[in-house]
Amino acid sequence: MNQNYTIEELQDRIKTIANLPTLPHIATRLMQIVNLPSTSADVVASLVSQDVSLSAKVLRLANSAFYGVPKSINTLNNAVVILGFKIIQTMVLSLTVFDMFVGGDDDSGAVFDRNNFWDHSLRCGVISRMLAHKRRRNFALDPEEAFCAGLLHDVGKIVMEQYLNQDLNRALRHAGANGVSVFEAEKNVLGYTHCDVASWLTGSWSLPDEIVQPLVYHHEPEEAAICADSVVACHIADILSKIETGAESEAAGQAIETLAPKADVLGLSAKDLWEILNEVPAEMERASLFIR
Ligand SMILES: [Fe+2]
Ligand SMILES: [Fe+2]
Repeated sequence: MNQNYTIEELQDRIKTIANLPTLPHIATRLMQIVNLPSTSADVVASLVSQDVSLSAKVLRLANSAFYGVPKSINTLNNAVVILGFKIIQTMVLSLTVFDMFVGGDDDSGAVFDRNNFWDHSLRCGVISRMLAHKRRRNFALDPEEAFCAGLLHDVGKIVMEQYLNQDLNRALRHAGANGVSVFEAEKNVLGYTHCDVASWLTGSWSLPDEIVQPLVYHHEPEEAAICADSVVACHIADILSKIETGAESEAAGQAIETLAPKADVLGLSAKDLWEILNEVPAEMERASLFIR
């Protein structure tokens, strides 16, 4: 079954695909300037305002319950000042990447279900953000970066759907037929995974390590050499986001028991994970504008 590609050959294959997406200009520029001391709110606002549709979405989100700002925000400048650079950066990145991959053919025979994909992605983002908010240890784990990383954690899969469709379908079928995870199936059948693809894709995007590392290591958090907390948060959120919420099911109990030692790294207990699971439906509602 394995096509015996070396990782280098696969990497070349990915890189030589003519239209491998590059991050659009505004997001690229924002990633470059956001941490410079000379960057002002005006500069950020005028950069984002170059894209009318992006600006409108940023304003809608800035006023949404997800960010909970009590007064209404009417201008991009206000949005940047009130929400801060970090939120604007992660919001623009999330919206931009979502726009890059949304739509396209979703014929009913496809093995890959885009609606499920984005629902799972948003759920993972929302749970990562709640983990970051709730954590009790003073590690660097920014809730907005955690959200963005969670939202984008499986972006490699959607790149595969568009550029390596047959490979993805083979892996999905193998996973279904053998009762293994898609990640295991990719390793067994393809010799590379959606995490490798995410690493190649984002290699030139100038993203913060706290966002890139979870994309690459969310299935193998112990492999991450840096940003361990961001990776563990994404790993836990990925697993919790696959659990049916609203009922204290046996599956949820088992998953939480398994995840408890990992949650401990963040200073969180099994009780905290239960609380988060119970809050997911309401938080998903507040975050739904991201994928609408
Ligand atoms: Fe994944
Ligand atoms: Fe996932």
